[in-house]
Amino acid sequence: MAQTRPGSAFQTRHIDPERVAPLVAALDAQDANPGVRRLRAWALDALAPRDGERVLDVGAGTGTETRALAAAVGPAGSVTGVEPNPGLRAVAQERAAAEGSTARFTDGDALALPAPGGSVDVVWCERVLQHLARPEQAVAEMARVLRPGGRVALLDTDWATTILHPGDPEVMRALVSGALTQAANPYSGRRLVGQLSAAGLVVDDRGSQALLQDHRTVAWPLIRMLGESAVGRGLLTEDRRDAAFAELAEAAERGALHMSVTMFGVTAHRPE
Ligand SMILES: C[S@@+](CC[C@H](N)C(=O)[O-])C[C@H]1O[C@@H](n2cnc3c(N)ncnc32)[C@H](O)[C@@H]1O
Repeated sequence: MAQTRPGSAFQTRHIDPERVAPLVAALDAQDANPGVRRLRAWALDALAPRDGERVLDVGAGTGTETRALAAAVGPAGSVTGVEPNPGLRAVAQERAAAEGSTARFTDGDALALPAPGGSVDVVWCERVLQHLARPEQAVAEMARVLRPGGRVALLDTDWATTILHPGDPEVMRALVSGALTQAANPYSGRRLVGQLSAAGLVVDDRGSQALLQDHRTVAWPLIRMLGESAVGRGLLTEDRRDAAFAELAEAAERGALHMSVTMFGVTAHRPE
């Protein structure tokens, strides 16, 4: 989970071409997380993309799911990953070419999708809305581009569900509250269903997965960032933070660490 922290580096106004490698590493780590894989598999199964369908992957990152969608719709279909970060887009293009995937990638913004109204059969949007100050506008855009009967899957983390244990619950609460200050829309996971309904779409199914950190290792980069944030905001003294760090390290040593955050998924369709 160290790699799943809600970094502002994914926000388009913070794009730094020099810092693409850490973002790619973070996305690769997320790709490997069993919880992410299970939620993706569930959502893909629920959407059931068919041969020849037209698909948009909004905020495609390195394109892992774009390639999976391209495989599902076959050579007669078309899958476009919309990715505003030029560095991530280049990696996505390279990986698709290396795999012989038909997935294509284009610049664009979730708030103004590069597709005519009613032109898309399937929209996929994973862990993007948490980075947007106006996620409801992005969901309205997805509803606009979907044809009647078209399907959408939104997947996103809800950072307020972060659990860190063991330790004094009050101290742990102060620590995990740091995760909420990192994303533009940290409660994204719980808002998905309401946003889809508000956009006039019909919710079909909902799923979730806890993304678990290995119980023997400590996600120090993330925990240190949370500790700095809690001390900086006056929620913890340095002494209490350091005592909490020591307790977490000792718990990891004996295989007793619990660290997780919950990711939610919702599938919906545009009424005929
Ligand atoms: C955490 S990554 C998720 C990438 C990919 N969907 C995945 O699940 O592996 C967030 C992605 O959203 C993209 N993004 C940020 N703001 C965006 C916007 N306004 N429109 C479209 N994509 C955006 C970022 O460049 C980044 O690729």
